[in-house]
Amino acid sequence: MVGEAGGRGGSAAGLSAGAGLSPGAGLSPGAGLSPGAGLSAGVRSAYDASAQLWADGAEPVYAALARALLTAADPPPADARVLDLGAGTGTAGRAALGAGARSVVSADLAVSMLRRCGPAGHPVAAEATALPFRDGSFDLVVAAFCLGHLTDPGAALREARRVGGALAASSFAPDWTHPAKAAVDDTLVSFGYRPPAWYLEFKHDTEPRAGDPGELIRLATAAGFTGPRVRAITVDTGLRSPAQLAAWRLGMAHTAPFVRALSEARRADLRRAVEAAVAGSGPLVVGMLVLTAR
Ligand SMILES: C[S@@+](CC[C@H](N)C(=O)[O-])C[C@H]1O[C@@H](n2cnc3c(N)ncnc32)[C@H](O)[C@@H]1O
Repeated sequence: MVGEAGGRGGSAAGLSAGAGLSPGAGLSPGAGLSPGAGLSAGVRSAYDASAQLWADGAEPVYAALARALLTAADPPPADARVLDLGAGTGTAGRAALGAGARSVVSADLAVSMLRRCGPAGHPVAAEATALPFRDGSFDLVVAAFCLGHLTDPGAALREARRVGGALAASSFAPDWTHPAKAAVDDTLVSFGYRPPAWYLEFKHDTEPRAGDPGELIRLATAAGFTGPRVRAITVDTGLRSPAQLAAWRLGMAHTAPFVRALSEARRADLRRAVEAAVAGSGPLVVGMLVLTAR
């Protein structure tokens, strides 16, 4: 619970601005959250601008992947105090509560995403590499598709080790793709879209590292975890229709701010074109890596 968390390194300092954030409340940064430079700043503003379209289209995908991650967690989340790191709209926290977790705290740097976690997710605005929680506050840290966004995932894993017990983290398998991705990208470009700088850095530098099983094991070991293990799993998200596939791609943080900025009429044209482009591209079955460690 948020009340169990405190300042960094076990200090008695409270969660000054990060504590007890509830939907509708004036969310403000938690300790250690400053408007960062480079990738973090770009990621933060992109996710902040994407929350509505993400919730409409991408969240159902990530919710299915979060359930798979929690099923693979070792030990399982039953009765655990869980930190959902890079929580976004709280999919992993909800999956943990659904699997019997005692409590969940959701940490993310994008406040608009956190607002959708709901009160049971106990959202806290926080930077993954400087968490505003006391040592040993959690039994399980879940990082669903978060490590790939970080320039220093080792620092985040050290923080996860400090505040938590076990770890369960996910990333996309390096060889996984789906035909809808290229089809939507091409359609977006024909509407004037250009990928943002943070996304190019993410695709080129940080995501590949999180998709490398050897690197994940090395980073987890260096952070002080024992018995790190990476498994590749395949998850059928249940998404199949062109409308669902279009909403997934148009709700991602690298596309949603562009979509949101279009006029209503142009947005409707884009959605129609995207749905036509993904028709027949098949069910959305995702290949992902699951890193577990204690
Ligand atoms: C791909 S989304 C996944 C969201 C959620 N875990 C899920 O699976 O539905 C990645 C999330 O990581 C967050 N994030 C990225 N960099 C972060 C950082 N340095 N500190 C905290 N959160 C971060 C983003 O704001 C975003 O919400």
